[in-house]
Amino acid sequence: MSAEVIGSIAALREALARIRRAGGRVGLVPTMGALHAGHARLIEQAVRETDCAVVSIFVNPIQFNDPRDYGQYPRTLVEDAALCGRLGAPIVFAPAGEEMYPRPQQSFVEVQGVTESLCGQFRPGHFRGVATVVLKLFQIVQPDVAYFGEKDAQQLAVIRRMVSDLNVPLRIVEVATVREPDGLALSSRNRLLSGDERRLAPVLFQVLRQVQERIAAGARDAAAVRAEALAALDERHIRVEYLEIVDPESMQPVERIDAPVRVAAAICLGATRLIDNLLCTPPAL
Ligand code: PAJ
Repeated sequence: MSAEVIGSIAALREALARIRRAGGRVGLVPTMGALHAGHARLIEQAVRETDCAVVSIFVNPIQFNDPRDYGQYPRTLVEDAALCGRLGAPIVFAPAGEEMYPRPQQSFVEVQGVTESLCGQFRPGHFRGVATVVLKLFQIVQPDVAYFGEKDAQQLAVIRRMVSDLNVPLRIVEVATVREPDGLALSSRNRLLSGDERRLAPVLFQVLRQVQERIAAGARDAAAVRAEALAALDERHIRVEYLEIVDPESMQPVERIDAPVRVAAAICLGATRLIDNLLCTPPAL
């Protein structure tokens, strides 16, 4: 059975009030739709751990810096609602733009520090748009638990910081990245890749794995490890937006690797931008 698709905030609040009155716990999985097996993993976990899993589907205009990117973002609501139903999520919240932004938005959530590196450098205003829409979704749904993917590790760090700084009363759950058999992280954007680009795309994961292995083998100089990884991507003529070895909480680049770090990268294949990251643990001292 397909999930019930609710477009209005008032109707959603009414449906959730009934569940809460019966003592039910609400889980929220925020998405932009075009659901794939990565999203499905988050939804399955929400279904297992809460009494009512709500999947929000909203392509959030204020987090896109490029109107073309926003325009061509895939939209597949009917299939998405069917998948949510099959996975056991009873409610899809899919508001229209005017429902979320009935007036020009004048209030924004700005998380400092953690937004400044990596994607934050190349997508001005992106995390402000993400933090703002996620806080709006938290206020609308008031979930007990919200689920986010490790795939977007900086986004997760931003949301954790926002929840902590603004005392938002919910628990954040992190779900491991789901990958294709060749290592490519699942993403709604993968369907925009040409055949050749798709064949090249797993190089990103392979290079991140090399970094992970070098660090596991005891490499401690972040600049040297990074240079090696950049050279491997350059060899394949891949346009790199960034590749950094960062502290997993602050997302700031590190010099010495003497605690777990995250290697995160963004590359462009044709017009499509892909991101990925891995947690890297140095050998015990
Ligand atoms: P979207 O890209 O649709 O992703 C929704 C959630 O699915 C995010 O938490 C993301 O990290 C997770 N996800 C995506 N691909 C994944 C994969 N391969 N494995 C595991 N999890 C994966 O991220 C957004 O939407 C938006 O920025 C949003 C938070 C909804 C705010 O608009």
